[in-house]
Amino acid sequence: MAAVNGECDPATESSSSSSSPAVFNQSACDSARTLSEEERERLENDPVLVSDFKQQKLELDAQKNWDLFYKRNSTNFFKDRHWDHPRVSGAEGLQRGEFETQKLVMLEAGCGVGNCIFPLLEEDLNIFIYACDFSPRAVEFVKQNSLYCPERCLAFQCDLTKDDLLATVPEESLDVATLIFVLSAIHPDKMQKALENIYKILKPGGIVLFRDYGLYDHAMLRFKSGSKLGENFYVRQDGTRSFFFSREHLASLFHQAGFQTLVNEYVLRETVNKKEGLCVPRVFLQSKFRKTE
Ligand SMILES: C[S@@+](CC[C@H](N)C(=O)[O-])C[C@H]1O[C@@H](n2cnc3c(N)ncnc32)[C@H](O)[C@@H]1O
Repeated sequence: MAAVNGECDPATESSSSSSSPAVFNQSACDSARTLSEEERERLENDPVLVSDFKQQKLELDAQKNWDLFYKRNSTNFFKDRHWDHPRVSGAEGLQRGEFETQKLVMLEAGCGVGNCIFPLLEEDLNIFIYACDFSPRAVEFVKQNSLYCPERCLAFQCDLTKDDLLATVPEESLDVATLIFVLSAIHPDKMQKALENIYKILKPGGIVLFRDYGLYDHAMLRFKSGSKLGENFYVRQDGTRSFFFSREHLASLFHQAGFQTLVNEYVLRETVNKKEGLCVPRVFLQSKFRKTE
């Protein structure tokens, strides 16, 4: 699931309008980024200062905070994500060749304003995309997009940790589900529930394509003291939260939900923020899991 161009990762880090990060180095590997002594000390000595009361409020307000995010930023924050097509990078039985003409049914879970789905809809006429998000505003932006076409996609509001996806998507009907910078936004105690929800609507052998923040990403090291909510879990100023995954932790979450690992690797990149003249180490986790047959 390599990004081929125009990739821009979520945005407290790289707003499409302000920082234009240029990638100049990228590699995939099995081990986490090595921290400097100073970075390690800073992370280890960063206490959790957010009270239980505030933590509960952040969880209660999670949907509202994301909806306000889209009120402020509308569709301008994330750039379109042009990935390798899921037929190439994802669904085993749907690779180029005899299955190329087979209809691909996928879910973009936590779709935001549709930066992943619209490039795919343009590229592949033989695809049907369900797209859900728990921000009503985000879902509305998807529906208002000129490329939205009810014959080829269905956008709906859904909290992946609470609402049963079976209410909208038939059981075992999906070839592929994508989780792109979404699981990190969900409270760690509820991630399992979201994965189990997706499991039910995937066909046996169906694939989840995952890309999200990896452990020790620059965004994690940049949080100021007082932002830590728990191990590898932080809150931004706007109340949205972010978790940073180790590959072991991610694999264990997916295995517990019934998936097997096909690919699970860190993608290390150095990006330069031209405006600020800074070179920053980014760490993402890029993975592929299969529902057992
Ligand atoms: C960082 S954005 C990524 C959006 C999109 N996947 C992309 O890559 O452009 C995280 C998205 O997850 C959504 N989200 C967070 N928690 C969710 C939940 N429990 N159920 C559904 N969507 C959720 C947010 O509303 C937000 O749109």
